[in-house]
Amino acid sequence: MKKKLLTLLLGTSLVMGLAACGGGDDESADKDNGGTETAQSGDAQKIYDQKCSSCHGGDLKGAVGPDLTKVGSRYSKDEILDILKNGKSGGMPAGLVSGDDADSIADWLAAKK
Ligand code: HEC
Repeated sequence: MKKKLLTLLLGTSLVMGLAACGGGDDESADKDNGGTETAQSGDAQKIYDQKCSSCHGGDLKGAVGPDLTKVGSRYSKDEILDILKNGKSGGMPAGLVSGDDADSIADWLAAKK
């Protein structure tokens, strides 16, 4: 009987330990979110990876779409925004990103020179 109680106690403290760990994870996840809010280029890169890399390559070097590693020397931020909004006749889809996402991607790409 005593042994059973001990295992029960051990078990409970183990569960509580795990719960405490979980809480810690949540906290650091919150901090991560705060971090990306200020690091805009991180967001742009993430959106690019999701929506553009399939055609422009994971390293911007191009695939179906053209190389974008020096796109900032060909287009201004506004011109890139225009391409994102309206697409391009050669296969660049319009409206993949909009609002803040489009803005931060255009900003990020315009700096690639
Ligand atoms: C379905 C494939 C595809 C996807 C997805 C795609 N693109 Fe494109 N993109 C193209 C193609 C093809 C062109 C070339 C169009 C042309 O020259 O007429 C292009 C052209 C461009 C250009 C102009 C490059 C230049 O040198 O003229 C920019 C900038 C661009 N894409 C950015 C993006 C961004 C940012 C995303 C993600 C939001 C994206 N593209 C997603 C296929 C794609």
